[in-house]
Amino acid sequence: MAHAPIIEMHGINKQFGQVHANDSVDFTLQPSEIHAIVGENGAGKSTLMKILYGLYQPDAGEILVNGTRVDIPSPRRAMRLGLGMVQQHFTLIPVFTALQNIVLAKEPRKFGTLIDYQQAEKRIAELAAQLGFDVPLNTPVESLPIGAQQHTEILKVLYHGADILIMDEPTAVLAPQEIEGLFNCMRSLKDEGKSLIIITHKLDEVMAIADTVTVMRRGQTVNSRPITDTDPAMLAEMILGEPVIPTSVQREQTDQTTPMLSMEGITLTKNSDTVRKRGWKNVLSNRDPGKRHLNEINLEVFPGEIVGIAGVEGNGQTELVEVLTGLQHIDSGTLTLNGERVAHIPADRHRHGISLSDRIDDNFIIGHHKKSRYSRKGILQRKSIQRSALNALDKYQIRVGNITHPIKTLSGGNQQKVVVARELEATPEVIIAAHPTRGLDIHAAEFVHTRLIYARNRGKAVLLVSSELDELLHLSDRIAVMYDGKIVGVVKPTETNKQELGTLMLGLN
Ligand SMILES: Nc1ncnc2c1ncn2[C@@H]1O[C@H](COP(=O)(O)OP(=O)(O)O)[C@@H](O)[C@H]1O
Ligand SMILES: [Mg+2]
Repeated sequence: MAHAPIIEMHGINKQFGQVHANDSVDFTLQPSEIHAIVGENGAGKSTLMKILYGLYQPDAGEILVNGTRVDIPSPRRAMRLGLGMVQQHFTLIPVFTALQNIVLAKEPRKFGTLIDYQQAEKRIAELAAQLGFDVPLNTPVESLPIGAQQHTEILKVLYHGADILIMDEPTAVLAPQEIEGLFNCMRSLKDEGKSLIIITHKLDEVMAIADTVTVMRRGQTVNSRPITDTDPAMLAEMILGEPVIPTSVQREQTDQTTPMLSMEGITLTKNSDTVRKRGWKNVLSNRDPGKRHLNEINLEVFPGEIVGIAGVEGNGQTELVEVLTGLQHIDSGTLTLNGERVAHIPADRHRHGISLSDRIDDNFIIGHHKKSRYSRKGILQRKSIQRSALNALDKYQIRVGNITHPIKTLSGGNQQKVVVARELEATPEVIIAAHPTRGLDIHAAEFVHTRLIYARNRGKAVLLVSSELDELLHLSDRIAVMYDGKIVGVVKPTETNKQELGTLMLGLN
């Protein structure tokens, strides 16, 4: 090998209670390479990188930087070793300007220290220009778009003098064009001699950007190899530990003239009371009380149709689902539901989908407990509930030990399948599915896709909100793109591509 590795991690172990998040993990980073770490949700990727960045301490194992063994008790120490990390959730202070965020993170916070902002601004502006970033440095970051916030994070890390840049799922919040921009920035940093680590679960991104790929599964590294030595199918198999056999469901033609769900001029101005986990974005929207979260939305969903909703997170998708499922009342417009039964597969299953400490079988009847089948004169009909639950478990291939155990004993994927089973088995006419496969493994996600297409073929009207363009392109009959609370375009998957969708998602049309 021509170079000595810049980072070596050997036998890293980290346990959280019963969870073995990292189990004897080895990881090697070469100078001037782009190294992708892939794996399913929960595989241990973030944990490994947080250990490298000094946010977590390993229970065992050693780390070498440029061949020297080091302890990394804190991010401060990591920075001094030349490491920088852009985390999955940004760590910017919303009311500070981009400049303040970048500079303050570097300066030691001693009283009486004067910071020469002018000089700092000059250097940061140069850095930004080099990378092709257009960040208004004197604007509070809370009013910057997500893409510019990410640029601020990257500038912050580079201004610290990082030679090794770790990015945890940086593309999750970006539109396709922004992803291309990020990749160009990564390539130019690499050309300057920096090393970059990118965590992602999207295989096309790995193939597009990485020199080397490391696959993690269940807390272990299963493989690490040059990108030229692999292909997406092989990676998928390593990620899952078994071959992937894609199931394909026939789409049937449907011709319908009356919409099952119809929205006319739907407008929502006031703020939601529901506490949402949207980080600074949420702070931002609460500070802007006059903002129209939904602005004159017109959309129809016909029986036998899947209408996808695309958009960069925070452009009204959450509010749209809240309005459709009765969590929020609209200010104006007309919402017509021709179907009586609406199923809701929620984005955040822990808030709206399931009751973690309740029994698995009881979770099957949440929202349906008033049905006579399940309850007579206020008394729950245990036998009937259990029969339905067992049927659904079997049909949806959910393996459980004992249906009287709390649902929190199931894996996240199986919890989600319980929600999907419950909602679809209730014979709904309209199905609102918000990020129904988020956090699911590839098999479970395929399974949910299949069930949604079946439901469509049986004449259900499906509204599918997703941040995965591949999912939308694969499932939808039409895709409506949301930007800034409006629907800025409706396209057919067969007549569009990611570039066009991205242009709409960024409001560039
Ligand atoms: N701070 C923590 N406390 C408890 N469990 C954690 C913590 N961080 C991660 N885990 C658990 O460790 C496992 C690996 O998580 P993570 O490294 O975040 O996976 P990935 O980034 O690959 O999705 C998961 O089961 C997760 O729930
Ligand atoms: Mg992670």
